[in-house]
Amino acid sequence: MDLRIKTFEEYQEQYKKSAEQPEVFWSEIASQFSWKKNWDITLEWNFNEPKIEWFKGGKLNITENILDRHLAGNANKTAFHWEPNDPFETSKSITYQALHDEVCQLSNALRKIGIQKGDRICIYMPMVIESIVAILACARIGAVHSIIFAGFSSQALADRINDAQAKVVITSDGLNRGNKQVELKSMVDAALKNCSSVNHCIVLNVTNTKVNWESNRDLNYHSLIENEEKNCSAEVMDAEDPLFILYTSGSTGKPKGVVHSCAGYMIYSAYSFQNVFQSDKNDVFWCTADIGWITGHSYIVYGPLLSGATSVLFEGIPTYPDAGRFWEVCEKYKVNQFYTAPTAIRSLMGFGLDFVNKYNLSSLKVIGSVGEPINEEAWDWYHTNIGKKNCPVVDTWWQTETGGIMLSGLGNLSPMKAMHAGFPLPGIQPVLLDAEGNVIHENEVEGYLCIGFPWPSIIRTTYGDHERCKNTYFSNYNGYYFTGDGAKRDKQGMYRIIGRVDDVINVSGHRFGTAEIEDAINMDLSVIESAVVAFPHDIKGQGIYAFVVVENSDVKTDVELTNSIIDCVSERIGKIAKPDKIQIVNGLPKTRSGKIMRRILRKIAEGERSNFGDTSTLLDPEVVEQIVDKAL
Ligand code: WT7
Repeated sequence: MDLRIKTFEEYQEQYKKSAEQPEVFWSEIASQFSWKKNWDITLEWNFNEPKIEWFKGGKLNITENILDRHLAGNANKTAFHWEPNDPFETSKSITYQALHDEVCQLSNALRKIGIQKGDRICIYMPMVIESIVAILACARIGAVHSIIFAGFSSQALADRINDAQAKVVITSDGLNRGNKQVELKSMVDAALKNCSSVNHCIVLNVTNTKVNWESNRDLNYHSLIENEEKNCSAEVMDAEDPLFILYTSGSTGKPKGVVHSCAGYMIYSAYSFQNVFQSDKNDVFWCTADIGWITGHSYIVYGPLLSGATSVLFEGIPTYPDAGRFWEVCEKYKVNQFYTAPTAIRSLMGFGLDFVNKYNLSSLKVIGSVGEPINEEAWDWYHTNIGKKNCPVVDTWWQTETGGIMLSGLGNLSPMKAMHAGFPLPGIQPVLLDAEGNVIHENEVEGYLCIGFPWPSIIRTTYGDHERCKNTYFSNYNGYYFTGDGAKRDKQGMYRIIGRVDDVINVSGHRFGTAEIEDAINMDLSVIESAVVAFPHDIKGQGIYAFVVVENSDVKTDVELTNSIIDCVSERIGKIAKPDKIQIVNGLPKTRSGKIMRRILRKIAEGERSNFGDTSTLLDPEVVEQIVDKAL
């Protein structure tokens, strides 16, 4: 199944066709997949409810497109080269046949413990092959997977398990990360104290850590699957049945479960993978994301496997045992397409070129960036030292909610411009809106980035709360999907993402809502109130700056307070969300109506010390002076 566009002219033709006849365009692509029954209606939609149905009436199972389909010609092709955290541990490879067999075994086992189509299964796992098996086993039997990044705390895990009412959790005893180990099972044990929906916890041995065992609940992964058949009938799924839930943060409230559907997501993850990375049949692809994020879902698991590609699956981190690890792995597997985040590039830049130049990177053909805007210095370094000025940099803009890459160059077909994501993929209709919600038609402008027409992998709902989906994405601008990002469009029509225009902070490519972090900080008993804003951070892109008002007491020093606030955030969300700066303040700048003036706090966090614009609505201007005096 080769879905690739081969020239820029062809891209332009395809784009035109996708805009003029979207149903015809996507039907032709969809017909290249295996269906159990063809669809009746290609697209039915409105952005008001919203209701979006692609390939209505069609029946399929995504794992047949990933596994069974490749068995005929490619059974012995490598699906993954697994690279362990510790470079001296033996690496492993798994073929499409072996992956099929193990997925079937786990699918059978899951059915035996009572899992049925539509049940939710939570996956809290390290970057090992069995995690991929777990994901595909869910999809095989029609269970909806909800992967929780293994860096989230047990409380965050419990929230997500409860929101989805998951019946099973699949985890491991522990995970390896650089020179540290994390005891995942004990985190799950703590979470499950408050999760009554969970009947079983399946535990894989990874670190061989001794774990607590609840014999009526816990099941060992290997014993569970060892006697199972290596064949398993795939559940017949409707095109619009949910494939997975993935939690992500927004500007308000608790994280929401973004729901993706079987057929639309399948088609778009494969289509975007093949076109953006332009991978050839025998290429080796490596996406360094974690499977707990959407990048891992679409470009470690679904896109590459649907395309029959060979990928690297890396258990470790970029700086272990040293800052040359990424490049060592690229050389080892002769990686052809490499896909990582600006934060990783910025952190590796700091270690110097000796770590790069030791390795032969001549296999690289395309290098990609994702997760946050890439600054010029990082872009140049990546393009020059990793791509040797020979590889296009695909700066891919997309979101958890979009399911796949929306704006990006396509391999070496498209014109490339530093820091610009570029043109939309075929099928994607971006628009820029002004503050009043009018479409800006000219080029060389800036506005709110929205999408005017559905694409196959657009978010379908937020789990358990459709109204929230509507309010978050479809109500800001009537008739448009609102991305939450601001963007510029240049003369040629290439897009450059500026960043979030809402209260979302992007820390190392990870998304957090300010409200979510404030809620965690406010759990500290000494805290009265807090306000969190972003500030520019050299490596993380954005850092978290918390202004905190505490009870007037001399019991704790500022250092003690700061530590206990950090502990609160680590417990509530995870270490990944800890504030970089915490300033204890006497009060927050508020308007007479009691609204926190975040604009001022943002300026202070950015280093501004005097020009705060119009402060006439401030209740107590002295508060600002006090904060500025002690700003960090
Ligand atoms: C937000 C989505 C999609 C994969 C990882 C993040 C920002 C993403 C880019 C890029 C500038 C980017 C946006 C977006 N973002 N890619 N290439 N250039 N900004 O997924 O957690 O859903 O976050 O990440 O602000 O809205 P996510």
